[in-house]
Amino acid sequence: MSRYWSRIVHELTPYTPGEQPRVADLVKLNTNENPYGPSPKALAAIAEATSDQLRLYPEPTGQALRAAIAVSHGLSESEVFVGNGSDEVLAHTFQALLKQEGPLLFPDISYSFYPTYCALFGITARAVPLADDFTIDPADYDRPCGAIILPNPNAPTGIALPLSAIEALVARHADVPVVIDEAYVDFGAESASSLIARHPNLLVIQTFSKSRALAGLRVGFAMGQRPLIEALERVKDSFNSYPLDRLALAGATASWLDRDWFEEKRALIIAGRDCLSAELAELGFTVLPSAANFIFARHPDHSGAVLAAALRERRVLVRHFKKDRIQDFLRITIGTEAECDRLVAALTEILAEQG
Ligand SMILES: Cc1ncc(COP(=O)(O)O)c(C=O)c1O
Repeated sequence: MSRYWSRIVHELTPYTPGEQPRVADLVKLNTNENPYGPSPKALAAIAEATSDQLRLYPEPTGQALRAAIAVSHGLSESEVFVGNGSDEVLAHTFQALLKQEGPLLFPDISYSFYPTYCALFGITARAVPLADDFTIDPADYDRPCGAIILPNPNAPTGIALPLSAIEALVARHADVPVVIDEAYVDFGAESASSLIARHPNLLVIQTFSKSRALAGLRVGFAMGQRPLIEALERVKDSFNSYPLDRLALAGATASWLDRDWFEEKRALIIAGRDCLSAELAELGFTVLPSAANFIFARHPDHSGAVLAAALRERRVLVRHFKKDRIQDFLRITIGTEAECDRLVAALTEILAEQG
C-alpha cells in the first residue's frame, strides 16, 4: 500500500502464476510446460539472431511469423496478430473486444487470469458454472451478454468441446465477440480457426508456450477476420509497438516451420497422458478426460491440498487450486516418462502411508 498508488492498483488482485522454483532435482509438473526442449531449428535460429543486429528494433508486426501461421491455418497474413505470449494477446483482446456494455461470460472454473483482466480493465464478469461433470454446456451461455470467452480445451479441467458445439455457440451469439482460447488445442481438440471465414465475431488465440515448448520465449497469437485483428493492432500500437523481440520472432518462426518436431513431441505427450491417466485410475483417482498436456484428477479418500503438499515434500510439484468444487483435484502436467514414473511412485508411497 502506498499513497502514491492509483486507485485501480489498490483494488487489483493480481494473478498468481504457478511456482518457478530454483531447486535442483525437482519434478516440475505444475505449469503445463512442455517436458521436451524446443525444436533444435528454433534454437539455431535464435543463436543466429543473436548478433549485432540486436542494436536494431525488430520488425514491429512480426510479418514473417504471421505469414507462416496464416498459411497453416488457411488465412491471410492480415488475419493474424502476434504478441508477447498469449497472456498479452488476451490482455489486448479484453481491452479491444471484450469490454462491452453487457457482461463478459466465461466458465466459473477456467483460466484464472480472466477475472484479473476484468478487474484491470473494468469489465463486468459473469462466471457461468460448469455442469456437474465439469463440462461446459454451451446452452448455459444463452443469456444476454456483451461477449464470451472460453478456453478449448478448458483449463484446468482439460475437457474439450467438439468443433460443432463451438460453431453453434459462435453462430448463436453472432452479435457479440466470442473468443476461443486454444492454449492446449494441439493436444487433442480441433481448432476453431477453420470457422473464421464464416464468423466475423470469432477470435481464436493460441500460444507457442505449450505444444512448441517455448514458454520462455513468450509468443502467442490471435486469428480472426480483419476488423477484430485491427482492434488488437490499435491497442498494441497504443501500448508497445515491439512486443516480440528479434530472438522471439526468429525462434518462433523456425519452430512453427519445424512440423516434424511438433508432430513427434505432441504424439509423445498424448501417449504419456493416456499412460498416466490409466496409472492414476489404477491408484483409485478419478481422472477427467483430458484433451490437453495435463490431467485433472482427484482421489475420493484424500484431500487435494494434503496430496499436493506430500508430493512437494518428495520434490514433485503439481498445481492445486483452493477453489470450491475443485479443491480436491490436482492438475498434473504430462512430463517425460521418467517424470511421470516419479510422480506415480511418490503417489503410491503417499497413499500407502496415509492408508
Ligand atoms: C488457458 C490458458 N490460456 C493462456 C495461457 C497463457 O499462455 P502464454 O502466455 O504462455 O502464451 C495459459 C497458460 O498457462 C492458459 O492456461
